[in-house]
Amino acid sequence: MAPTRPFSCLKSIVGILALLAPTYADKAAVSDIPAAVEQVSTDPGLFEFEKLQLTDHVLDKLSKYQLNELPAISFASPPQKLAERQSNPSSPKCKTYPGDPEWPSEAAWRLFNILLEDRLIKSVPEASLCYPEWGQYSPAACQALTTQWNNSTLRIENPTSIRSIIFQGMTCMPPNYTAAFLGRSVSCTIGGFPEYSINVTNVAQIQMAVNIARELNLRLVIKNTGHDFGAKSTGGGALNVWTHYLKDAQYYAEYKTDDYTGPAFKLGAGIQVLDANRLAKERGVTMIGGEGITVGLVGGYIQGGGHSPLTSIYGLAADHVLSIQVVTADGHFVTADSKTNSDLFWALRGGGAGTFGIVTSITVKAFPKLKVTTMRYNVTTNANFTHDKFWEMQRAYVDDFEKYADLGYYSYYRIRHVGTEIFHDMTSMVAPNTTEVEFRKTMGPLFNKWAELGVPYTPIIKEYDNYSDAWYEAFPQEVWTWAMRQASRFFPRDVISDPTKRKTVMDTIRGVFDEGSHILQFNIRNPPGTDAIDNAVNPAWRKVLMFAIMFVTWNVTDSPEFVNQFSRNLTYEWNPRWRALTPGSGTYMSESDYIEPNWQESFHGSKYPKLLAIKKRWDPQGVFYATNAVGSEEWQLTGDLIMGHLPSQNGRLCRK
Ligand SMILES: Cc1cc2nc3c(=O)[nH]c(=O)nc-3n(C[C@H](O)[C@H](O)[C@H](O)COP(=O)(O)OP(=O)(O)OC[C@H]3O[C@@H](n4cnc5c(N)ncnc54)[C@H](O)[C@@H]3O)c2cc1C
Ligand SMILES: *[C@@H]1O[C@H](CO)[C@@H](O)[C@H](O)[C@H]1NC(C)=O
Ligand SMILES: *[C@@H]1O[C@H](CO)[C@@H](O)[C@H](O)[C@H]1NC(C)=O
Ligand SMILES: *[C@@H]1O[C@H](CO)[C@@H](O)[C@H](O)[C@H]1NC(C)=O
Ligand SMILES: *[C@@H]1O[C@H](CO)[C@@H](O)[C@H](O)[C@H]1NC(C)=O
Ligand SMILES: *[C@@H]1O[C@H](CO)[C@@H](O)[C@H](O)[C@H]1NC(C)=O
Ligand SMILES: *[C@@H]1O[C@H](CO)[C@@H](O)[C@H](O)[C@H]1NC(C)=O
Ligand SMILES: *[C@@H]1O[C@H](CO)[C@@H](O)[C@H](O)[C@H]1NC(C)=O
Ligand SMILES: *[C@@H]1O[C@H](CO)[C@@H](O)[C@H](O)[C@H]1NC(C)=O
Ligand SMILES: *[C@@H]1O[C@H](CO)[C@@H](O)[C@H](O)[C@H]1NC(C)=O
Ligand SMILES: *[C@@H]1O[C@H](CO)[C@@H](O)[C@H](O)[C@H]1NC(C)=O
Repeated sequence: MAPTRPFSCLKSIVGILALLAPTYADKAAVSDIPAAVEQVSTDPGLFEFEKLQLTDHVLDKLSKYQLNELPAISFASPPQKLAERQSNPSSPKCKTYPGDPEWPSEAAWRLFNILLEDRLIKSVPEASLCYPEWGQYSPAACQALTTQWNNSTLRIENPTSIRSIIFQGMTCMPPNYTAAFLGRSVSCTIGGFPEYSINVTNVAQIQMAVNIARELNLRLVIKNTGHDFGAKSTGGGALNVWTHYLKDAQYYAEYKTDDYTGPAFKLGAGIQVLDANRLAKERGVTMIGGEGITVGLVGGYIQGGGHSPLTSIYGLAADHVLSIQVVTADGHFVTADSKTNSDLFWALRGGGAGTFGIVTSITVKAFPKLKVTTMRYNVTTNANFTHDKFWEMQRAYVDDFEKYADLGYYSYYRIRHVGTEIFHDMTSMVAPNTTEVEFRKTMGPLFNKWAELGVPYTPIIKEYDNYSDAWYEAFPQEVWTWAMRQASRFFPRDVISDPTKRKTVMDTIRGVFDEGSHILQFNIRNPPGTDAIDNAVNPAWRKVLMFAIMFVTWNVTDSPEFVNQFSRNLTYEWNPRWRALTPGSGTYMSESDYIEPNWQESFHGSKYPKLLAIKKRWDPQGVFYATNAVGSEEWQLTGDLIMGHLPSQNGRLCRK
C-alpha cells in the first residue's frame, strides 16, 4: 500500500495512528519510535547530530510497526514512479495549503511530532502577544517586543521571525508598526509565516521533514537566522526546518584533501559569524565570515557566495569550502565534495541556499592569524561642508579604489539622508595584514586632500594583532530595519578605473541619492586566481571593485502613494541607471532587489544553465523553493501583492 497520492497517505497515517493510540501516554512504548534514528559509527567525520539518521536499515527495523510506509520515513519514490506522477494530469498544481482536504489532520501532525521527538512547533507569530485573540496577550511583553523589534539577537530565537517581514505580508506587527500604507486594520494573522516549524537537533528529523514535505506536497522552508533580505526563509502554509540550534563545531589542525593540507573547521548549520570568529580566535587562526555579526555562516551566507572584510585578500567564503553534508530532496543524507557528488558540491558553493538541499555542516579552510588595521569615522554636512564638498570627498576616495583593494583592503560605508544633511559613516575600512604605520602611509595622500577640502571628521584608526577582535570592534551589531527596500549592482574594475566612466558613475550615484535613496557601498575585489576556482559563484563577482546598494526607508505614517512610488523608483527608475553603466555585470543575490529583473543573469551570469540542470537532477519534484532561487521561475506566489507590485509569501505557491 505504498502511497502514491497524498490522500491515500493520509488514510494510512490515520490507520497507524489508531494502531498507536493506546500507547500514546505510555512513554516506554512511544520511546521505541524515536529509535527511528541510529548511530552510524563508521564515519568519524560526522558530528554526533549527523550520526542520527534515517537509513534503509532503520526502515527495515520499523517495518513491524508499518512505520516505514509513513511519508515521514520513506525515501523518494523510484524514478519510474516519479515520472508517472509528473505525467499524471491530475498532479496538483499548487503545494497543499492549510484547509485543503489533503492537508494533514491534527492527528497526523501529532504523529509527526512523535516521530520528530517532540520538536514540532505550531507557529504563533511573534507579535501575537500584542493581540488578545491569540490567548497570550501581555501589554508589557508587547511593549518590550516593540522596542526590540529591530534586535536580531532576540528575534533569531523565534522559530519563524524574519528580518524582511515586509514580504511576509506584515500580517502580525507590533501595533505601533502596523503601517498606514497597508490600509488594513490592525490585526494579527499568520500570513506568510510557515504553519509548523521543526526545531531540529539531528539529521533524522531533517530527513523526516523533507520526506513529509515531498510525499504530502507541502511547501518546505528552511530558516536559520532569518536575515535574508528576500524573505527566503519564510513561506505561507509551509513546514519550516529551523536550523539555529545546530551549533556543533570541530577544529582540525591539519585537514587533508588532494588539494589542501592545513587547518580547517567543520561547522554546524546554526553557526553564526560571531561564533566562527570566536572559534577562530580560540585556535589562533582566522576564518572568513561576513561583517554582520548575527548572520548565519553556513546557511545563506556561504551558499550564496559570502563576502567578507577579508575578501580582498582571500576571496569569497564559498571559495574555501572543503566538504559539505547535506540532506537532499529524496531524503538521503550525502557528502558533497570535490570527489563525491561533485556537481552538488559545485552548486552549493555560490549557487544559492534553500535550493539544492538542507546543509547540516560545512568544512571550511582556516587561515593564519592576521594583523589588521581598521579605520572608522563619521561625517555630517553642514553650512560650511556642503553637499558639493561632500561629493568631492567621495570622488577623491573612489579615485584610488584600485590601490586600496589591490593592497587587500575592504571598506563598508553608508551615505544617508538625515533631514536635509548627509550623514556618512565609514562603518569600517579594514586593512588585513597591515600595520597602522603602513596604513597611514597608504592613506596619507587622501587624508591630505580631505584636509584641503575641510572634511569634518575624526577618524579612529587602530591596529589589532588578530582579525577576530578587529572585526568585533569594527562592526557593531546592525539593526533589522524592516520598513525598507533595496537594490544593488556590482561596478567592475574597468568602469571604476576609467576616469570618464568613474565620473559618470559618481554623478549617477549622487543623482539617485539626491532623489531620495540612501547609499551603502563596499570597496572590495576578488584577488587574482579566484576567477579560476570552479564553483557556482557569480562570475561578475570576480571583476568587482565597488559593490553599491541603494535603499529607501520610510515611516509607518507615510502615505501609500509615497511608499509605493519609492519602491517602484528603486526597481524601475534608479537601478536601471546603474545597470546601464555596467553592461554584463550583475549583483549579489543575497543583497539585491526582491524583484530583481532578469535575476538569473544578474545573480548567476553564464553559470545559470548549469545550475538549473543540477537543480533538476537533485530536486526534480521541486521540494525546495525560494523566491528568485535557481529553478523558481517554474513557480509563482499567489498571495496579496504588497504595495500593489511586490509578491508576498502570504498565499499559495503554485506551478506556473
Ligand atoms: C545585518 C546583515 C549583515 C549582512 N552582512 C553580510 C556580509 O557581510 N556578507 C555577506 O555576504 N552577506 C551579508 N548579509 C547577507 C546574508 O549573507 C544573507 O542575508 C544570508 O541569506 C543570511 O543567511 P542566514 O542563513 O543567516 O539567513 P536565513 O534568512 O535564515 O536563510 C537564508 C537562506 O538560506 C537558506 N538556508 C538557511 N540555512 C540553510 C541550510 N542549512 N541549508 C540550505 N539552505 C539554508 C534559507 O532557506 C534561505 O533561503 C548580511 C545580511 C544582514 C541582514
Ligand atoms: C505606541 O505608541 C504610542 C504613541 O507614540 C506610545 O505611547 C506607546 O507607548 C507605544 N506602544 C508601545 C507598545 O511601544
Ligand atoms: C533600534 O535600534 C537602534 C540602534 O540600536 C536603537 O537606538 C533603537 O532604540 C531601536 N529601536 C527602535 C524601536 O527603533
Ligand atoms: C538584544 O536582545 C538580546 C537578547 O534578548 C539582549 O541581550 C540585548 O541586550 C539586546 N540588544 C539591545 C541593543 O537592546
Ligand atoms: C529549540 O531547541 C533548543 C535546543 O534544544 C532549545 O534550547 C530552545 O529553547 C528550543 N526553542 C524553541 C522555541 O522551542
Ligand atoms: C558614528 O556615529 C554613530 C552614531 O550614529 C556612533 O555610534 C559612532 O560611535 C560614531 N563613530 C565614530 C567613529 O565616531
Ligand atoms: C562655518 O565657518 C564659520 C567661519 O569659519 C564658522 O564661524 C562656523 O562656526 C562654521 N559653521 C559650522 C557649522 O561649522
Ligand atoms: C602578509 O604580508 C607579508 C609581507 O608583509 C606577506 O609575505 C604575506 O604573504 C601576507 N599574507 C597574506 C595572507 O597576504
Ligand atoms: C587580539 O587582538 C587584540 C588587539 O590587538 C589583543 O588585545 C588580544 O590580546 C588579541 N587576542 C588574541 C587571542 O590574539
Ligand atoms: C521619517 O520621519 C523622520 C522623523 O520624523 C524624518 O526625519 C524622515 O525624513 C522621515 N522619513 C521619510 C522617508 O519620510
Ligand atoms: C520617483 O521618481 C520620480 C521621477 O524621477 C520623481 O518625480 C518622484 O519624486 C520620485 N518619488 C519618490 C517617492 O521617490
